[in-house]
Amino acid sequence: MNDDSSARRLADTLRSVVRTAPAGSRLPSSRALAAEHGVGPVTVATALRLLAAEGLVETRPGEGTFARRASTTPGGDTAWQLTAMGPATVQATALGALLRPPRPGSVPLSSGYLAPEHQPHHLVSQALARAARRPASLGRVDPTGLPELRAWFATEAGARPDDVLVCAGTQAALATILSSLCRPGDAVVMESPTYLGALAAAQAAGLRVVPVHRGPDGAPDPQDLDRALQASGARVLYAQPHGANPTGTSWPARTHRELLAVARRHGCFVVEDDWAHDFVLAGSPRPLAADDPDGTVLHLRSLTKSTVPALRVAAVVGRGPVVARLAAGRTAADLYVSGVLQHAALDVVTGPGWRRHVRSARTLLIERRDLLAAAVTRHLGADALTHVPDQGLHLWVRLPDDADDLALAAAAATAGVDVTAGSPWWVSEPAGPHLRVSYSAADPAEAAQGVEVLAGLVRDRPRTP
Ligand SMILES: Cc1ncc(COP(=O)(O)O)c(C=O)c1O
Repeated sequence: MNDDSSARRLADTLRSVVRTAPAGSRLPSSRALAAEHGVGPVTVATALRLLAAEGLVETRPGEGTFARRASTTPGGDTAWQLTAMGPATVQATALGALLRPPRPGSVPLSSGYLAPEHQPHHLVSQALARAARRPASLGRVDPTGLPELRAWFATEAGARPDDVLVCAGTQAALATILSSLCRPGDAVVMESPTYLGALAAAQAAGLRVVPVHRGPDGAPDPQDLDRALQASGARVLYAQPHGANPTGTSWPARTHRELLAVARRHGCFVVEDDWAHDFVLAGSPRPLAADDPDGTVLHLRSLTKSTVPALRVAAVVGRGPVVARLAAGRTAADLYVSGVLQHAALDVVTGPGWRRHVRSARTLLIERRDLLAAAVTRHLGADALTHVPDQGLHLWVRLPDDADDLALAAAAATAGVDVTAGSPWWVSEPAGPHLRVSYSAADPAEAAQGVEVLAGLVRDRPRTP
């Protein structure tokens, strides 16, 4: 058991004691608590800090720890807020579910991250410790980002540091782009299905999301895109040309120029969400931004996936006056990204362990992808998997036409398998039921058992007579 869980258990035990103790009464000393509960002094200190945060105890230096009454304002009638707020604009339930950590003991086939033991925890914690010791990282930061970090992102994208804007993850970058370049009621075009986070960001900005179909080669048909942009008047296309989440597909390189030309003709920015940049499993994809002298592309590069979820650092790389427009929007929204995080991110990606980490993650993901794909084909049939991704973390698994993906994912959760239902990812009507089955976090043997459970649920699905 780790220190955090022991401290939480001790806090649970002490909480009931403290709640019934008279306010002002003194708790036993830390040493006595450690001896009584068979834990170390760090665990006691952490547990007491948890209770102090809840307002249940107060620690007075040199005197000890005392019970106190948490003073909370009694709850009133908040129902008036429903009228005041009006209709909800953001449907973030499915996105929220994605962010929940895997349930202990379940097979994690829904994770969008590497398993914790494969995340570069040591690189990040050392970098954070170094960053916390640098006075510069505790102060204010240039709103466009730490110059050295912008230079790193620029080099990676073949751009100039002035073209880079650092954001607190892709989600913040998307919010900035959509609110800076569109007005409520405008259209934004997205491939369907697409990333739930992008859908939520568009809803939050009050935009109409207009779907464009992905063709069999993984890219929208240029004529389809032309029609969607013409009919909607959208000035932003959000796209995932490399290892799309959830489909795992990529745009063939030969389609890039034509699709960019269509967008350019309509005066439409293309947001290239390169979220899986560090998870290339075959080939060497060329970013759209590499063939974009006129600044049509806004390239998004996130570090949250390949480092740790807590390092919420990403960049928008653009070209031309749009960068200043976005910088103004970002600054208005949240001023700047914490210097501690930016210094730590720079330290991680420029340190000697980074390339090694990216290489070993790739080797691990290739093995896991292949084993999971084989398990899906074996248990669910060859038609269930029409595409094996060259990039990213997920398989997009087709279910029989009469299956209910939401019900199936719920039944899988009850059976101890966490998997993601496909329906919420579609921009409009789903073209058939799917599950997103992720290979990043589950051990391959466990993942194969999980797929067997899914296959059993598909086989035994309720059928209408
Ligand atoms: C398509 C896509 N874009 C971006 C991200 C990463 O977002 P962020 O940088 O906000 O963590 C994800 C994470 O799941 C994703 O799937």
